[in-house]
Amino acid sequence: MTSTTRGDGTTSHVAGGVASTAAWSALLEHREALGASTIRELFAGDPGRSSRLVLDGAGVHADLSKHRATAETLGLLVRLARERGLPERIDAMFSGARINTTEQRSVLHTALRIPRGESLVVDGVDVVAQVHQVLGRMGEFCDRVRSDQWRGSTGRPIRAVVNIGIGGSDLGPVMAYHALRHVSRREIQFRFVSNIDGTDMVEATRDLDPAETMFIVASKTFTTQETMTNALTARSWLVNGLGPDVDVAKHFVAVSTNEAGVREFGIDPANMFGFWEWVGGRYSMDSSIGLSLMLAIGPAAFADLLAGFRAMDTHMRGTDLQGNLPVLMGLLGVWYRNFFGSQSHAVLPYEQYLDRFPAYLQQLTMESNGKSVTLEGAPVGVDTGAVWFGEPGTNGQHSFYQLLHQGTTVVPVDFIFFAQPTNDVGDHHDKLIANVLAQANVLAFGRTADEVRAKGVPEELMQHKLMPGNRPSTTLMLDRLTPYALGTLVSLYEHLVLTQGVVWGIDSFDQWGVELGKEMAGELLPALIAHDVPDLSAFDASTAALALRYRALRGR
Ligand code: F6P
Repeated sequence: MTSTTRGDGTTSHVAGGVASTAAWSALLEHREALGASTIRELFAGDPGRSSRLVLDGAGVHADLSKHRATAETLGLLVRLARERGLPERIDAMFSGARINTTEQRSVLHTALRIPRGESLVVDGVDVVAQVHQVLGRMGEFCDRVRSDQWRGSTGRPIRAVVNIGIGGSDLGPVMAYHALRHVSRREIQFRFVSNIDGTDMVEATRDLDPAETMFIVASKTFTTQETMTNALTARSWLVNGLGPDVDVAKHFVAVSTNEAGVREFGIDPANMFGFWEWVGGRYSMDSSIGLSLMLAIGPAAFADLLAGFRAMDTHMRGTDLQGNLPVLMGLLGVWYRNFFGSQSHAVLPYEQYLDRFPAYLQQLTMESNGKSVTLEGAPVGVDTGAVWFGEPGTNGQHSFYQLLHQGTTVVPVDFIFFAQPTNDVGDHHDKLIANVLAQANVLAFGRTADEVRAKGVPEELMQHKLMPGNRPSTTLMLDRLTPYALGTLVSLYEHLVLTQGVVWGIDSFDQWGVELGKEMAGELLPALIAHDVPDLSAFDASTAALALRYRALRGR
C-alpha cells in the first residue's frame, strides 16, 4: 500500500480510490457470501444479535441489529475506515488541520462546543477563547431582549423575532427552534424567512407589529442574494411601519463572518455577532447563527445544547471505531450505498418537535457528500451521498411508507424516538411508540406467504399482501427531547457525514456545485427585467424561450 500526503498535510494510506483498497475487495466478497440472507435468517441464526448489535453513545441508544449485516460486516467496514485513514482524519479535524482542502480551511465546528477554560490554539489563536467571547455577548443580548430591557425604537419590548437567512443560516435555527419550542419563551414569536420568493417575507410579517419586531440577518458571507434581498425588504417594512425616523439599529442585528459587509448594509458592528470561516454554513447552528434559538430558549438552555454536542464529540473522538456510533452509522450508509445500490436514506423521527430535522439533515448530508471527485480531483469511482428525506412519524406512515415496505427499491431508515413524552397527553405517547417499533419490525421481518395465508388472506390477494421485509433500519432511542439530547443528535449526524466523506475520499466541507446556478441567475436577471428585448444568445434555446415567454406574460 502506498501513502500520499494531501494538501492539508494529512496522509492518505491509499493510492487510488476507495474501491482499490483491500478492505473494499474483502467487503465485496463478504457481500457475495451474505448473498440473499435475510434479516429474518440472521436473527434466526443468531438471536443474541439484538443484544450485541446495540450501542450507546452520549445518551443515544442505537439498535443496529435490524441490518443486513453481521458482526463480520461491521468489522470489515471498520477495516475500510481504517484503511481510509479515518482515525487520522478525525484527529486532523478536531485539531484544526485544513481538511477542507478545496477552500484551504480548517473544519472546526467541534470547537464551538469546547467548554470555557479549555483551549485550542490554531494558527496562534485560541479559538475557544474567541468562541466564548461571542457566546458571552450573545448571552447578554438575549438576556436583555428576553427581560424586556431591550426596547424597540418606540420604547416597546420585542415580541417577535424574524431570522432572515438561508441554507445553513436558516435550516439549523428553524429546526432547533421547532425541536425546542417546548422550552422556548412563548411571549415572543419566532419566524424564519429564507426564500427569495416575496411570499415568505410577506406571510412572516403580515400580522407583526414593527414596533415590537427584531430582525436577525444571518449570513456567513453577507452576500447571499436571498438574504440580502429579504433584509432590504425587512428594512423597508420597518421604515414604512414606523416612519423615516425609526432607529433601525433597535430592530436589526446581524450574524456573520463579514464585518465589512454588515457595516456596508448599514448595521452597526456593535450589533453584530461574529463567527469564523472555519465554521461551515451547514455546521453552524451552534455558532452565533443560533442567535434566534438562544433568544427563544435562553442562554442556559443553549449551553445545555452545546454540552450535548460536546458529549457526542467526545464519544466520536474517544471511542474506538468498532464501538463508535457515528462511525458505525456512517459505515452502514456506505454498506447500503455501495454494496446494495441503495440510492436514498430516510430519517423518521417519531417526535413532532423534530418535524424539520429531516430537512436540516438534507443540507447537512447532501451538500456535504453529494460529490463526484476525490480530494485529489479524480473521479470517486463509486457512488457517494444518498438522497436523504423524511417526515415525522406517524404522518409518513400514511404517505410514503408504502414504498418503504413493498417498493422495488430498498431505503435504509433511521427511526428516532424518545422514551419520555414531551407533551404527556392521554395514551398518545404509548401509541406513538407502538407505531415506531411496529414499523421497524415490519420493515425487517415482513410477513411470509404462510403467515399471510394463516391470516385467511385469499390466494388472489396473496402477492399483494405479502410483506417482503428484509429492509434495514437503525433505531435510535433517547430518554427525553432536551436541548442536550438535540445537541447529541446533531453532532451524531455531523460525524456520520465526516465518516462517509473520509471513506469516499471527498471534501465534505465545500459546496462548489451550488455556485454556477447562482451565477446563472445573476446573468439572467437583467434579461428578465430589461426594458428592451434582451439579447439571449448567450443562453441555450430552451432557457431563452422560457425567459421570453415569462417576459411576455409579465407584459415586458
Ligand atoms: O447554498 C450554498 C450556501 O453557501 C450554503 O452552504 C450556506 O449555508 C448558504 O448558502 C447560506 O450562505 P450564507 O450564510 O453565507 O448566507
